[in-house]
Amino acid sequence: LRASVLLAHPYEKSLNHAFYRTVCDKLKELNVDIFAHDLYAEKFDPVMTRRELGTDRSDDALVNQYADELQVSDFLFFIHPNWWGQPPAIMKGYIDRVIRPPYAYDFPPGDSGGGLPIGKLKGKTGIVFNTSNTDENRETAVFGDPLENIWKNCVFGFCGLERYCRKMFRVVADSDSNLRKEWLKEAADITEHAVRVRAI
Ligand SMILES: Cc1cc2nc3c(=O)[nH]c(=O)nc-3n(C[C@H](O)[C@H](O)[C@H](O)COP(=O)(O)O)c2cc1C
Repeated sequence: LRASVLLAHPYEKSLNHAFYRTVCDKLKELNVDIFAHDLYAEKFDPVMTRRELGTDRSDDALVNQYADELQVSDFLFFIHPNWWGQPPAIMKGYIDRVIRPPYAYDFPPGDSGGGLPIGKLKGKTGIVFNTSNTDENRETAVFGDPLENIWKNCVFGFCGLERYCRKMFRVVADSDSNLRKEWLKEAADITEHAVRVRAI
């Protein structure tokens, strides 16, 4: 089994980095091969170019590498904080540039792109770990939980990926080290469960 693990957080001592390390350690323990990428550390360029829009391959070697890895991965992990109800721009750029046709989705012959897509990520498992500073009731009632819609419907649903789990850890600003340890354990357990379910 193989996993792509993508992290978007600029500070190496952040809770998000701790989730990233926890997920990678657990996957290694379970003998899953990992393609782990800290997008800031790798200086991933999130900006789509005009030339890239019209081609299947990019001039940017990182984009091609991430796309190749995505295709052969059984698990797709995305770890990032809630920034304005969205992923940080560097992760949005990963979505724009890497989760691309014809590898992640395509349209039937004769369809110019206005019809229904053919999902190409079918059979993979998507797991998203998020952090935020808004309690659950306010997130749902006032903001409508936009990250759930982005990942579940706009990205994974669009690409035909059905096995999906997203966990939001909150409220980070009010958490102490004990609670954070519990959160990391929970992320490790979710990771292990996802791998074991798949291995059955
Ligand atoms: C640019 C920016 C935008 C943010 N927007 C939100 C937001 O919309 N909702 C929210 O609950 N928290 C928001 N936050 C708070 C972060 O989600 C919070 O700091 C982070 O999840 C904590 O995890 P960390 O310790 O790994 O940084 C924002 C933080 C920044 C820096």
